[in-house]
Amino acid sequence: MDTSIDDRIHGNQVFKASMRAQWDTAAAGWNAHTAHISAWLRKPTDAMCSMAGVRAGARVLDVAAGSGDQTLAVAQTVGAQGYVLATDLSPAIVALARDNAVRAGLAQVETRVADGEDLDVPEASFDAAVCRLGLMFFPDPLRGLRAIHRALRPGGGLCTMVFSRPEKNPCLTILMSTALKHAGLPARNPFAAGGLLSLGRPGHIDTLFTSAGFVDVATTAIDAVFHLPSVDHYLAFVRSSASPILQILGRLDAAAAESAWSDMRERLMVFTTTDGWDGPNELLLTAGRRPEETT
Ligand SMILES: C[S@@+](CC[C@H](N)C(=O)[O-])C[C@H]1O[C@@H](n2cnc3c(N)ncnc32)[C@H](O)[C@@H]1O
Repeated sequence: MDTSIDDRIHGNQVFKASMRAQWDTAAAGWNAHTAHISAWLRKPTDAMCSMAGVRAGARVLDVAAGSGDQTLAVAQTVGAQGYVLATDLSPAIVALARDNAVRAGLAQVETRVADGEDLDVPEASFDAAVCRLGLMFFPDPLRGLRAIHRALRPGGGLCTMVFSRPEKNPCLTILMSTALKHAGLPARNPFAAGGLLSLGRPGHIDTLFTSAGFVDVATTAIDAVFHLPSVDHYLAFVRSSASPILQILGRLDAAAAESAWSDMRERLMVFTTTDGWDGPNELLLTAGRRPEETT
C-alpha cells in the first residue's frame, strides 16, 4: 500500500480514538444539557427531519446521534411502525441514548456504537438518514457521506446539520481562539478537517454530497440563536460538554485553565441582552437523496 495512504489511515484512526475519548468524557455533560440543546435546535431539527423525508413508518438512520435528542424526535415521527437506528462513535454517549429511548418508551429505537465513516449496516436498508452536528467531526466526511449513501434505499434522503462560517458563529470562534491563546498554541485553520467549523466553507458540503453520489443537493443556512438565562449558563454548558475546547484546555494547569475561562466569559458577555444571553450561531442544513435506480 502507498505509504501516504497508510499514514492517512493511521492518522484518521488516531484522530478518532481521541474523538471517542473526548466524547466519552463529555457524554454526561452533553446529556445533562439536553433541555437547553433541544430548545436551541428545535426549529433546525424539525427542518432537518422534514428535509430528510422522515415520516410515519419510515426506517431512519441517525448518524453521530449523541445522547439521542434528535433520535427521540425522529422516533416520535416514525411512530411504532417505524424504526430508528441511532449510531455514534462514543460508547458512553450511545449508552445514554439507549437509556433515554427506553425511558421515553420508544421501542422503535435501536442504538449501536459505530464509526459514521464505516457503518456496518446492510446496503439500501433505510428510507432516510439524519446527522445533527456530527459530520464536521469526521476526519474524512466524504467517506462518511458515501457510507450513508450506501445505507439508503434508492430515492432515500439525507439531511445533515453543521455549523456555517466562522464569522456567523462568533461564540465558537471566541471559545476556540481564547483556548488556543491560553494554551500557547497557534491559530488553527477553521476549515481543517475534523474541526467544529470544518464544513462551513461556502459550497464545500454541497460538493461533498455530490461527490458521494447524492442528487438534488441543496443547502439552507438557518439562524440558531442559543438563548440562555446568562453567559454563565453558556459557560456551564461549554465546560461540561464542548469537547474540542476541553481538549485544548486539558493541557493547562487548573489556574491557567481558570484564567482562560474567565477571559472567555469576558468576551462572551457582549451577547448579554435585557432578558438573558443570546449567542448567535448559523447552521447549514444540507439535503440530498440517493438517486432512484435506473433500468
Ligand atoms: C456535538 S455532538 C452531537 C450529538 C447529537 N447529534 C446532538 O445533536 O445532540 C457530536 C457527536 O458526534 C460524534 N462523533 C464524532 N465523530 C464521529 C464519527 N466518526 N462517527 C460517529 N460519531 C462521531 C460524537 O461522539 C458526538 O456524540
